[in-house]
Amino acid sequence: MSFLSATLSRVKPSPTMAITAKAGELRAQGRDVIGLSAGEPDFDTPQNIKHAAIAAITAGHTRYTPVDGIPKLKEAVVAKMKRDHGLDYTTAQVSVGSGGKQTLYNALMATLNPGDEVIIPAPYWVSYPDMVLLAGGEPVVVEATLENRYKLTAEQLEAAITPKTKWFIFNSPSNPTGAGYSHDELKALTDVLMRHPHVWVMSDDMYEHLAYDGFEFCTPAQVEPGLYDRTLTCNGVSKAYAMTGWRIGYAAGPEVLIGAMRKIQSQSTSNPCSVSQWAAVEALMGTQDYLAPNARIFRRRRDLVVSMLNQIDGVECPTPEGAFYVYPSIAGLIGKTTSKGTVIDSDETFATALLEEAEVAVVFGAAFGLSPNFRVSYAASDEALREACTRIQVFCKALK
Ligand SMILES: Cc1ncc(COP(=O)(O)O)c(C=O)c1O
Repeated sequence: MSFLSATLSRVKPSPTMAITAKAGELRAQGRDVIGLSAGEPDFDTPQNIKHAAIAAITAGHTRYTPVDGIPKLKEAVVAKMKRDHGLDYTTAQVSVGSGGKQTLYNALMATLNPGDEVIIPAPYWVSYPDMVLLAGGEPVVVEATLENRYKLTAEQLEAAITPKTKWFIFNSPSNPTGAGYSHDELKALTDVLMRHPHVWVMSDDMYEHLAYDGFEFCTPAQVEPGLYDRTLTCNGVSKAYAMTGWRIGYAAGPEVLIGAMRKIQSQSTSNPCSVSQWAAVEALMGTQDYLAPNARIFRRRRDLVVSMLNQIDGVECPTPEGAFYVYPSIAGLIGKTTSKGTVIDSDETFATALLEEAEVAVVFGAAFGLSPNFRVSYAASDEALREACTRIQVFCKALK
């Protein structure tokens, strides 16, 4: 009998973390690797948020809190949902967890039975399919193509729904493509969902505030109020407020689901860090003034990376609406050989050769369910991005 669980054999470790580790190894050997693989802003957490955390420690907010969040943070989430999306929730409809990842995982753990299907548009955030598998469900991956700018069409969604579908996971702006759905594009999907009342919607709005060129963010429960009773609107402070290490995420939805998520959390991790919760109150309720300047910086970096990558023959890089990722296709490079003799037969070979031969770390597309592509995270300085893109250009030009 195996010591490790059968469930474990269904999942794989996060490939993004594996690439970051490999880049770290090369750096430790003294190699000058530029890392464009990590999914976190390179900004520091704003001062007002740090001060709120220090004040919380001084005030003694260092004990256990209610399992799924302090009342003040739940009130802040309720206010944020109203302010930003016009959505009405009560504090009993809010769950706070240790990062967006935990709230999504709790929701899947609380609802999936063997055989339940979860529709996941690809390219997807690496954790969705594996979280579904850990929770005992079946991921149903539907590929959104480059031709449709990595967005799922209503026809594709309609065709993927079966009587066993429990959830549709929606992520806009997206990790890994940066694609953001306009109101009309999202409405086309919510119209489909209105015809299938057994399907619930898990909207992952983590990159809400990272949107450019006047893109207007919208979330399913806002676009189609008819879905309110079966939508879990998920978000967090990690990306917008540069708080990845603080581990606070939250979700709002029907009370019965929030209660089920609380039960899972109560028997696994209990409350998220008390100090981080107070910091998150300040993030949501304090000044939002730095969001727009940060978005302008990211937009400039996006434009730099897109234009440099599109100068390469064989690479096609659409300009995404948001997040801090681009997802170029390398269809035109497959079959070529690097100057060191490596045949590029997949995006994984491409990313490995790029790291070893050109010292740039990116994540290969297969990790996100759509190939042949790679993901660039442009949460890095302009100089690092310029140098990395120059190295990618030189590497690709040398391919025979
Ligand atoms: C789409 C998406 N959702 C959720 C998360 C999880 O964020 P957190 O760090 O708050 O757990 C991430 C982090 O990379 C993400 O990219």
